[in-house]
Amino acid sequence: MALANEHRLSEPLIWPEPGVTRIPYRLYADREILALEQQRIFRGPVWNFLCLEIDIPEGGDFKTSTVGEVPVIITRDEDGGIHAMVNRCAHKGALVCLKEKGNARALTCIYHAWSYDLRGRLTGVAFRNGLKGKGGLGEDFDPDQHGLERLRVETFCGLVFGTFSEQTPSVESYLGQPMSKFIRRNLGKPLKPLGMHSQIIHNNWKLYAENVRDSYHATLLHTFYTTFKINRLDMDGGIVLAEDKWHHISYAKRDTLDEAAEYKEQKIHAAQYNSNLAGPQLLDAWNEFDDGITHSIQAIFPNLAIQFTLNSLCVRFFVPRGVDKTELFWYYVGYADDTEEQTAVRVMQGNLTGAAGLVSLEDGCINEFVQRGTRGSPGAAGLAEMGGREVESSDSSRATEAAIRGFWTGYRRIMGFD
Ligand code: FES
Ligand SMILES: [Fe+2]
Repeated sequence: MALANEHRLSEPLIWPEPGVTRIPYRLYADREILALEQQRIFRGPVWNFLCLEIDIPEGGDFKTSTVGEVPVIITRDEDGGIHAMVNRCAHKGALVCLKEKGNARALTCIYHAWSYDLRGRLTGVAFRNGLKGKGGLGEDFDPDQHGLERLRVETFCGLVFGTFSEQTPSVESYLGQPMSKFIRRNLGKPLKPLGMHSQIIHNNWKLYAENVRDSYHATLLHTFYTTFKINRLDMDGGIVLAEDKWHHISYAKRDTLDEAAEYKEQKIHAAQYNSNLAGPQLLDAWNEFDDGITHSIQAIFPNLAIQFTLNSLCVRFFVPRGVDKTELFWYYVGYADDTEEQTAVRVMQGNLTGAAGLVSLEDGCINEFVQRGTRGSPGAAGLAEMGGREVESSDSSRATEAAIRGFWTGYRRIMGFD
């Protein structure tokens, strides 16, 4: 379905015959595809994660974020309502809001001092009537026609989502039942911010979307996980796909480790180590829930992931900053009713992930290795056949790329790549 003025590919993308078990490398490196994604995905019928509600707790609070490459402002008005607008002045297009977050009564552009209220309405134009009867805007200038471009906004379990589309159904139906239930499990009570950081990774954003769905790499690449028995494929676990396939949950149950012989037979490197931590309290976790799940990652299309490793709860958000550059944000949270000791444990376990984390620092470079390895091979394709060719949930194995096939199923559908 081509839209008026829509960006088109000068060379159509032909997906290889075996469908989502093959991923054309061109998708990671083509600037025209990146431009098309802005229209069809980020300005299209998806709910984009914008920020956490706890980022803007009070009336007048604002936070800046990004939808695809579009800069946005999220505000809370005096009555508690949440709004999201494009951070682009209606006059000449300058960024209106230059800070990451703050509190204000109005948003004023520094270029020519046009100002907007917290709902994005234009409320003031400097020299609107000119000076001494000369200059200024015409009589017919209507400020109501020149507010900031608005997004639809909805919140769900403390997450603020926005969309440019009028067609997108509610966030809850966009997520579907299994996804919304699991978000309620993890984020369904008042949250407390523990800290955030961001890092630049040198790869296409979709490589990170694949990586968080790649349940099979964690046991191989992340030797810390395996050595210290936090997440291994010989624990009970599984993959849950959303009905439309593009969101997923991957989970593991630490107490069910059964030291599978395959680890030794196949010489999986980390399983050969015999190490002890000098600070074993790092992994001294308490059970948060009675479902036995001690490690989970949930990815929501297009660019959100929620991680719960032991007691470390983190919302990850990854933003395209060019065809081979992505900014990855980590928002670490706890619960408002946590004790001081619980907060201290969550903060300590936060060291497992992030740019310098004990576990996930590898993801920061492995995606770059794919970006570099596939450079100059737009006609070749990657393989995703672990666990079969189907795109289905699995309650018995995470030695599968089903969630990756799920991502590409949704991606092909929304991009129109049949
Ligand atoms: S660009 Fe914002 S006031 Fe002119
Ligand atoms: Fe990883």
